[in-house]
Amino acid sequence: MSSPARTAPTALPAPAPTWWQRPGLEVHDDRLTLNGADLDVLLREHGAPLFVYDLARPAENVRALQGALRRAGLRYLTRFALKSCPDPRILAVLRALGEPGTPDGVGIDACSPGEVLHALANGWPPETISFTGTNVSERDLDVLLAHPIRLNLDGVSQIERVGRRAPGRAIGLRVNPGAGAGYTDDLAYAGERPTKFGVTTDRLDDAVAAVRRHGLAVDTLHFHAGSGWLGDQLGEFEAALARAVTLLERLLEAGFAIREVNVGGGLGRVARDGEVPVDLDAYAATVARHLAPYGVTAAFEPGDFVMKDAAVLLAEVVSVERRGSVTFVGLDVGWNVNCAYFIYGYAQEIVPLAGPMRPRTRLVTVAGHINEAGDVFAEDYPMPDVAEGEGVAILNAGGYLQAMSMTHCLRPTGATVYLERPAG
Ligand SMILES: Cc1ncc(COP(=O)(O)O)c(C=O)c1O
Repeated sequence: MSSPARTAPTALPAPAPTWWQRPGLEVHDDRLTLNGADLDVLLREHGAPLFVYDLARPAENVRALQGALRRAGLRYLTRFALKSCPDPRILAVLRALGEPGTPDGVGIDACSPGEVLHALANGWPPETISFTGTNVSERDLDVLLAHPIRLNLDGVSQIERVGRRAPGRAIGLRVNPGAGAGYTDDLAYAGERPTKFGVTTDRLDDAVAAVRRHGLAVDTLHFHAGSGWLGDQLGEFEAALARAVTLLERLLEAGFAIREVNVGGGLGRVARDGEVPVDLDAYAATVARHLAPYGVTAAFEPGDFVMKDAAVLLAEVVSVERRGSVTFVGLDVGWNVNCAYFIYGYAQEIVPLAGPMRPRTRLVTVAGHINEAGDVFAEDYPMPDVAEGEGVAILNAGGYLQAMSMTHCLRPTGATVYLERPAG
């Protein structure tokens, strides 16, 4: 399993990292641009925190995944993990990709009643919304059972609750296959150590008994190995998938007509030089190899893979100060808008807006303006000699960060700019 600091600090001075450059996110005239817009100009205009979204990128990412699934010969459904970005502007882009439920379209993976209602309000038909929740209450069920959505239940107690209120209903079972994969250990949502998610192998018979007692019909097997795993962890995902298939066989033997296996989300995005991107064709081929014998539809519910590299977070350097052996670069944003490192140990690349390709000359800790010592974005991080007043972009800021923003310390959650990709 991986650790947060996947790459050791580079010997200095080091060339600026270039792995992140792609159509749309480019350097022009020694300035960082997104879809042709000068990001430093946007920062001066709006101030920080400023999230800048590339409206073309989510669609490109979805199409890349769907292309691989098609090439692998899978019958598949793509559902967007709404929690990664509930922004209506982004949802409109994803909704426009095609009819949800068709190979080109994108359905919704929802994890709360609020997300179900939000998806409905943003144009998704109920049958294209798949709910997979945790610790669902009777009040939650008041909303969930009022709509003909797909419902994956992740525990025996949930089966009992739904069975009592909606006997005979079709459901999916979320299982913990006993193996998982994640960017860090904490991001593995399944594995030997029980997590709060899913029916574990040893409880499957109890789950089946509860299903039978209430005359429920299990048509879906769901698992989510974990989040943020990268190309060198495909084997870990495959181990989880292989174990999920043994549970699929037990359900089929028990007589349930399973027509969908939902392999969850979790595809990660490289954060730093040296990390290995997921090979989408290898991923799709792995799923196809394990599921082909069963004739099921494979469902995918990516969040970060679609959104992470679709936005940058802009900030200004407000202090550069040595404290003991550590040089701190202080920014006017905090973990209240960028919890990637604080919560998940995901250390993003930080790029100056002017002179982005300057060599990296010193190791620094990049910190925010929230009143907590843990409010840092990078440690032992090679940066150029940035000066107070310079603007920087924190990359890979499109997934979860804005959705999870809060006004901790009464710091603002900031503004948002959306940029279309110029034609050609
Ligand atoms: C059940 C389920 N599906 C999908 C996702 C989306 O994960 P990611 O954004 O890592 O693709 C999550 C994230 O926690 C999840 O729990």
